[in-house]
Amino acid sequence: MEKFVITGGRRLEGEVIISGAKNAAVAILPAVILSDGVCRIENIPGISDVAVIVRILYELGANVKVINKSTLEIDPRHIASHVVPADLTKRMRASSYFMGAMLGRFNKARIAPPGGCDFGVRPIDQHIKGFEALGARVVIDGGMVDASAERLVGNPVYLDVVSVGATINIMLAAVKARGLTVIENAAKEPHIVDLANFLNSMGADIMGAGTDVIKIRGVEHLSGVTYSIIPDQIEAGTYMVAAAATGGDVLVKNVIPKHLESITAKLEEAGATVEEFDEAVRIIGPSRPRHCNVKTMPHPGFPTDMQPQMATLLSVADGASIVTESVWDNRFRYVDQLTLMGAKIQVDGKVAVIQGVEGLTAAPLHATDLRAGAAMIIAGLMARGVTEIEDITHIDRGYEDVTAKFSALGADIRRVKIINPNLRKAAL
Ligand code: EPZ
Repeated sequence: MEKFVITGGRRLEGEVIISGAKNAAVAILPAVILSDGVCRIENIPGISDVAVIVRILYELGANVKVINKSTLEIDPRHIASHVVPADLTKRMRASSYFMGAMLGRFNKARIAPPGGCDFGVRPIDQHIKGFEALGARVVIDGGMVDASAERLVGNPVYLDVVSVGATINIMLAAVKARGLTVIENAAKEPHIVDLANFLNSMGADIMGAGTDVIKIRGVEHLSGVTYSIIPDQIEAGTYMVAAAATGGDVLVKNVIPKHLESITAKLEEAGATVEEFDEAVRIIGPSRPRHCNVKTMPHPGFPTDMQPQMATLLSVADGASIVTESVWDNRFRYVDQLTLMGAKIQVDGKVAVIQGVEGLTAAPLHATDLRAGAAMIIAGLMARGVTEIEDITHIDRGYEDVTAKFSALGADIRRVKIINPNLRKAAL
């Protein structure tokens, strides 16, 4: 086991290069199953969630060749099984994308319900509604979700909630179905557009990705292609907030500034200066953040995956801020950690009222989930003293080379092995 040890109080300065988008990679890699040829995928982030997806592909029988640190060549032609290994599926939410991809290829899929970060109830009813609209019969059998159809047939699907996962899964299932599928009330996140671009480059016929109506006309074949994944909006946003929170001056490179607009607007409201370039943004932090209110919304609103980082910044703002979480039921579990550092935050259901304090002081912390873990790093960078963060495997799920990237910006952050106290006693 490992932990991060951070000595706070240093201003971040310099440049950071953003990796490929986690939430695009974990959709595009399972989508390769639909191809009739070899796919070369570039700009894949080196994170543990991607490692799990690649492991699943490998165990299903795909031939996976490592070309370099961020490029894989995947040949899915020998995959014969439609059953996804349960132990791996339970590790992450995005493993559910194998359901849509398997259905799209074999007209059947058998998979354990997906795991992932704990933000309260995480249903998949909208995914199932979509598969059923395409003619699949979906049953739960022996703790596994079983979906099958003679042949999937395109149909309209109206999503009751705007769901990223359901939109992606229905696209994957529909891309080779007979006829036209129309997803209404679809999610519009950048990774949905990236998946549609990938599928279209293979020969799919998808229109409207990035709007709330996506039209998918089924095709017979999808061919192998070379495709480069978009930069990670949330990793970029995390470094932007970290720069603002330390009063720093950071150039965040390899980004699509358009994807960052809601984050940029909020940081400017909080007193930061943000300059946009073609593929970079520069953030100059304020001497103290201004208070402001934040409400998370599906894209193009302020992303829920940036909520803990932004709330951490606002914990030292010059007044009271209200943060409303409107996507997940329970995404404020990290607040207790900030309170240990001296933050004044009251949570009532999906609303947090933050009374800004002058500064935070170091405390022993743990990462309650991926983005909360990133927020704890930001808190450690801001705080007076030495902060230790445990349970960092959550952070490794979504941030590549996190200590190297922060260190290059001048942060004092180290990854340290946790010595089991029982072992230490035995050694003495
Ligand atoms: C994706 O999760 C992301 N994960 C999450 O990012 C992100 O927080 C979320 O979208 C919202 O933007 C990946 O892309 C792998 P949803 P997903 O389906 O697809 C309800 C991160 O930190 N809902 O859009 O699971 C659900 O309960 C991760 O990178 C249903 O009711 O989210 C929630 O309230 C964490 N029924 C809302 O919709 C369903 O069938 C949005 O969920 C599906 C969802």
